[in-house]
Amino acid sequence: MHILGISGSLRAGSLNTSVLEAAASLAPDGMAVSLYRGLAGLPHFNPDLDVEPAPPAVVDWRSLLKSADGVLFSVPEYAHGVPGSLKNALDWVVGSGEFVDKPVAFFHASPRGTFAHALLAETLTVMSARLIPEANVTLSILKKGITADEITTDAAMSGALREGLRGFARRRQSASLST
Ligand SMILES: Cc1cc2nc3c(=O)[nH]c(=O)nc-3n(C[C@H](O)[C@H](O)[C@H](O)COP(=O)(O)O)c2cc1C
Repeated sequence: MHILGISGSLRAGSLNTSVLEAAASLAPDGMAVSLYRGLAGLPHFNPDLDVEPAPPAVVDWRSLLKSADGVLFSVPEYAHGVPGSLKNALDWVVGSGEFVDKPVAFFHASPRGTFAHALLAETLTVMSARLIPEANVTLSILKKGITADEITTDAAMSGALREGLRGFARRRQSASLST
């Protein structure tokens, strides 16, 4: 099972990116989590450009999404909204449909971004993604610049992430058995 991790932050010391990097190292047997690093390289979405052939960065983004068995997001809130670079990436796949029926869970670094988290869930729902709420994990990271290693070696945080990953795998497996 290959899971694509998408951090909504471009910041070098991003807490949300650290959470996904920690999730990648905590993934159970049979699951691999890799991070999408192309958010900043996508062109601004413009429906006039949403034609064949798509820009190369968009082709890459769509193909990574298409081949993923599921997607994990970790996203900060900016001005009560989803960071623009992430929304831009999502706009590129509204028409092409890579999120249709895609299992999705949220591993956010902080509970403070309630507006962004709700808006992201709404956008993915309207794009027909399959949200798996029982796999969601929201940490309360207060330490600035925390590294993935520090999260991985913290018993409470790594336990919560492991539980979320196992929940994701369970739901993913039961869904594929029933289809
Ligand atoms: C431009 C900007 C706007 C922000 N707006 C909010 C906000 O509306 N609500 C909130 O809870 N935090 C807000 N924050 C704080 C970030 O969500 C917080 O610092 C988060 O940890 C950043 O995630 P990262 O470490 O993954 O980059 C804002 C930060 C920035 C830079």
